[in-house]
Amino acid sequence: MQAYLIDFVNLLLRWLHVIAAIAWIGESIYFVMLDNSLRSPKAEEDREKGVFGEMWSVHGGGFYHNQKYATAPAKLPNDLHWSFWKAYTTWLSGFALFVILYMVNPGFYLVNPNSPWEWAANMTGWQANVLALAFLLGGWVVYNELCKRISPNMDRDGLLSIAVAVMMIVVAYLSTQMFTGRAAFLLTGAVMATAMSANVFFWIIPGQRRMVKAMKAGDAPNPLDGKRGKQRSVHNTYFTLPVVLLMVSNHYSFIYSHGLAWVVMVLFIFAGALIRQFFVLMHAGKTQPAYPAFGVGLILLAVWVAAPSSSSPSGNEGAQGPDQAQITGLIEQHCVQCHARNPEHAGFSAPPAGIAFDSWDEILGQKAQIQQVVASRYMPLGNMTNMSDDERDIIAAWEE
Ligand code: HEC
Repeated sequence: MQAYLIDFVNLLLRWLHVIAAIAWIGESIYFVMLDNSLRSPKAEEDREKGVFGEMWSVHGGGFYHNQKYATAPAKLPNDLHWSFWKAYTTWLSGFALFVILYMVNPGFYLVNPNSPWEWAANMTGWQANVLALAFLLGGWVVYNELCKRISPNMDRDGLLSIAVAVMMIVVAYLSTQMFTGRAAFLLTGAVMATAMSANVFFWIIPGQRRMVKAMKAGDAPNPLDGKRGKQRSVHNTYFTLPVVLLMVSNHYSFIYSHGLAWVVMVLFIFAGALIRQFFVLMHAGKTQPAYPAFGVGLILLAVWVAAPSSSSPSGNEGAQGPDQAQITGLIEQHCVQCHARNPEHAGFSAPPAGIAFDSWDEILGQKAQIQQVVASRYMPLGNMTNMSDDERDIIAAWEE
């Protein structure tokens, strides 16, 4: 019953998270498009009012006329629309999901027993939880310091972008060494997503509040506030595509479960940013297909890097597939610690996902599923029972 309720909470949180993220990212993509689509105002009176650009659009059976002011209109309306709850809701629901999915059972989901670093492979669940939180917080602190130190006046933003890109390579590498592949992808995405939300919370919104306050008091707003908001929201723009990929990667074990998972992650991060750049330029009237072409190139490279090694099933070619004894042996060695009616593994009081392999009938009845999860390396979970590639090949060659 308890597991059922946790699953239900998981579903509801995920629903909220996806909806909030769609609303936030959708709005953010819309505003970047709007900003880049602005053209000089046609009417002289608009220019006199301080309008710097405008866009006409048609949507949902209506015509819209957006105008952007260079500084601010002479009189700021009181019912100004602000955007921040979408960002905060996305982060809060995402964090809650991480807690109930990963931190409740860190021994399985976070600790990487195959880590090349002995201390990481031997972490306790609590240590892994603390490390994961420190990783998220540390990611934000480092990113924020880079922004503040490298381009405090927004005049070295190019250099800053390079520094942030290097930082993401380091984050991808460290995460895959310290945590399970699945958690590493999620946490690297979460480092970016946390930076995005924190940019809104700590810089963009407070800056806008100071600007509005100054204008209402009849003072000139500090131009640095506007520029800084822009700097951070530009970063957010390039983070969006990679973050979404890393968040959905959880369902595709082939991209996170091999030795070069961090390289695959880096390729996807850069591919996402390059593809985003194409759309940013396109809305400004510049079509540069080289960006997405290069992005697609990186994705193809990722396909190649992540491809399963095609070692032929060890000496089995043409011969008969493995027999019942061989399969049962492998399942007993690698799966039943968890997948049994009374799992030996202390972390479970019932078979995970309701799947038990107590009898040959049960094993046979779930053959297709077993082959699929073993070939994709989704199971054994976190490869806790150290299943080798040769053993996986035997499962793959199992016919009946
Ligand atoms: C350390 C514990 C553990 C071991 C060992 C393990 N599993 Fe799992 N398995 C789980 C958990 C937990 C789930 C639930 C899915 C999840 O949380 O990712 C699961 C889910 C599954 C599923 C359902 C997948 C789905 O799509 O929902 C199958 C099938 C499966 N395991 C097969 C196996 C096989 C075959 C082995 C041995 C090669 C194995 N498992 C070893 C813990 C384990």
